[in-house]
Parts: sequence; structure tokens; C-alpha cells
Amino acid sequence: MRERVRTDDGSWTLESERYGETFRSRRGAVREARHVFVEGSGVAARLAARQTTTVLEIGLGTAVNLVLSASTALRHEVPLRYVAIEHEPLCAEAFEAVELEHVGDAAFVAAFLAWRRMWSDAGPDASLRHGAVQVDVLVADAASAPLPGAADALYLDGFSPRVNPELWTDEAVRRYAVALAPGGTLATYSVSGHVRRALAACGLAVERLPGPPGGKREMLRATRAPCAP
Ligand SMILES: C[S@@+](CC[C@H](N)C(=O)[O-])C[C@H]1O[C@@H](n2cnc3c(N)ncnc32)[C@H](O)[C@@H]1O
Repeated sequence: MRERVRTDDGSWTLESERYGETFRSRRGAVREARHVFVEGSGVAARLAARQTTTVLEIGLGTAVNLVLSASTALRHEVPLRYVAIEHEPLCAEAFEAVELEHVGDAAFVAAFLAWRRMWSDAGPDASLRHGAVQVDVLVADAASAPLPGAADALYLDGFSPRVNPELWTDEAVRRYAVALAPGGTLATYSVSGHVRRALAACGLAVERLPGPPGGKREMLRATRAPCAP
């Protein structure tokens, strides 16, 4: 079992032995997830405006981004399709260890844990449907697997470029850009020059934004141009 770490906002994360990083920031796991991904990508605003939304996540990890996004969609009663690509899904006990029921909608978390217990090694054989939320988890290597398109937001959350460079190559970034719908956004915690240049080379408008309170100083949002009217 991976070591469980209490983070500065009181929420839990896990330590990854393989990558030598925690799944979420020690400075506040839920705070980082909400600030960088759910709000920083514009998903929270889309859902509050009752816009049907598709999220593509690179790295399901402890599912904190998923639970926060799904809980927001359930609160606003707006359809959310959430597709996560994960090559080493955590077991149900690991998800339980981060106490997701304190992160968001408890009924959704219970449904997610029950769903997780039914997966084979190849992953789930059906989507999770809970209210207006549909979740699909693809057990695959995000660096090479085909990515579903038309994402309103892409959460790029596969550990840092330093420890997991294969998810941050020019070619990987190009594939993420192609997966975005017109007007879609990519959010991540890395503001490295290499990543910014790769995103800009794909025609995305790249912004450095303030990072989460108490956490990294900056985050990145890159936006694909909307369709011409
Ligand atoms: C920082 S954690 C994700 C945290 C997560 N989004 C959350 O809300 O808890 C990174 C995740 O990316 C996964 N990952 C790393 N490299 C990957 C790859 N090439 N393909 C798919 N998943 C990958 C890891 O197994 C890990 O679960």
C-alpha cells in the first residue's frame, strides 16, 4: 500500500514510489485540484453557466479532479462527460485512503468506489453513470493511446515533466492540442518554457496564471481558438 500523506489543507494524497512525487501537492491536494484544474480550466464556470461539458484527463490518479468536477456538475444538474486515461489505476483501497467522501458528493464517491471494485485488469467494461455525469476510464499509456477528441477541457496531470517527460514531449503536447474542441482549454501546473513553446507552436493561446494559494506560484492555461462565427 502506498504511503498516505496529509496535505496542508487537511486533505489526503498518496506518495508514488515509481515517480517519487505525491499524486497531489503537499501544499494542499484539494486546493490544487480545484484551483488549477476545475477552476483554472474554466470547467467550474462552464458548469455554473449550465453548459454541457466534456473533460479529458491525463492521469486519473487519486480521482480528486474527477470527484470535484463531478460534484460541481451534479450541483448544477448539468451533463458532464469525463474521460480519464490512466496506465496504472489505483485499487479501491487506495481511493478509500484519500477519503474522497470528504472531497465531494458522497453518493457519487460511493458509486465510483463500487464501480472501481468491478473493474478487471483491463479497466471498466462499461461507463459509470451517476445523475448527469458519465465517466469513462481508459487503461492505457496516454503517450501513445488514441485520445478522444472534442474536449472542452483537458486536465494535463501526469506528474511533472522532470519525472515523467514522456507526457510532455512536443508530440504528446500536439496530440493534446488536437483533442481540444474549438475554444477548449488545457490546464496544468507546469509552466516550463518547453511546454509553453510546444503549446504555442500548436496555435494555442498560452497564459501563465497565479497558482493555488500556498502552492506553486503559477499555473498554465492554453486555449484553442474558438470557431469563426
Ligand atoms: C499527478 S497523478 C494524477 C492526480 C489525479 N488527477 C488526481 O486528481 O488525483 C498522475 C497520474 O498519471 C498517471 N500516469 C503517469 N504516466 C502516465 C501515462 N504515460 N499514461 C497514463 N497515465 C499515466 C500516474 O499513474 C498517476 O496516476
